[in-house]
Amino acid sequence: MLKPLQHREFGSGRPLVLVHGFPFHGEQWDAVARELASVARCLVPDLRGFGRSAWPAQSAPDVWTMEQHAEDLAEWLDHLRVDEPLVLAGFSMGGYVAWPFLRAHRERLRGLALCNTRAIADTTEGAAGRAKLAARALLEGAAPVIEGMLPKLLAPHTLAARPEVVSAVRRLMEVAAPNALAAALHGMARRPDSTPLLGSLDVPTLVVVGEHDAISSVAEMRGIATAIRGARLVEIANAGHMTTHENPAALARALREFITSLA
Ligand code: MLT
Repeated sequence: MLKPLQHREFGSGRPLVLVHGFPFHGEQWDAVARELASVARCLVPDLRGFGRSAWPAQSAPDVWTMEQHAEDLAEWLDHLRVDEPLVLAGFSMGGYVAWPFLRAHRERLRGLALCNTRAIADTTEGAAGRAKLAARALLEGAAPVIEGMLPKLLAPHTLAARPEVVSAVRRLMEVAAPNALAAALHGMARRPDSTPLLGSLDVPTLVVVGEHDAISSVAEMRGIATAIRGARLVEIANAGHMTTHENPAALARALREFITSLA
């Protein structure tokens, strides 16, 4: 890392790390973190290249793997001197980062929340699509990423009837820098299949999915929850993929119940 990740912080208590998805930044978690501030010290990083952890274009590598993001998190936690076991909640790409974090830093974890994420790797077609989008993002910036992703991120009802949510999600994506978009897209395309991890996972786990999630479907996330011993699945009503924006109160409730059950 050039320098430790930038982050937001809410509340006090035992550490809860909230990792954002693609192509967002830590602000994605604001509404949820505010609700959780009374039960945890919420630490919300901006992953490398995103938000205030922007990376100078000329020195940016072409690929940021999920392993690199996980090591950035470990380095940042060391920098903050967070050495007590923490709960890690990863949203979508944040969940892809949680898998290598779990592989390399199991001892740091007291609990794991997998929010709107996947364990499987990309298909060949999916990875090829990401490579094309990365090339366009380098030339055109965030616009093609937003237009391609927005219809999949939000439930049909949100797209049709909740313009304020659509605008908030769009705003969150608009600030993403071309180098970060491209490097993270290539990194996601290279992530390995993490399903072999599920059967031996020994960390208390919560699995959260939006009832209309078109990216990490209810069936797929139910499969993840079933494969992890003792995991609990919570389905968030009135939400697609963006549970943080479509129903932050229900997501916060699920996380609060999970955290307090670990105490
Ligand atoms: C995310 O929300 O992080 C993305 O939808 C993940 C992905 O593109 O696979």
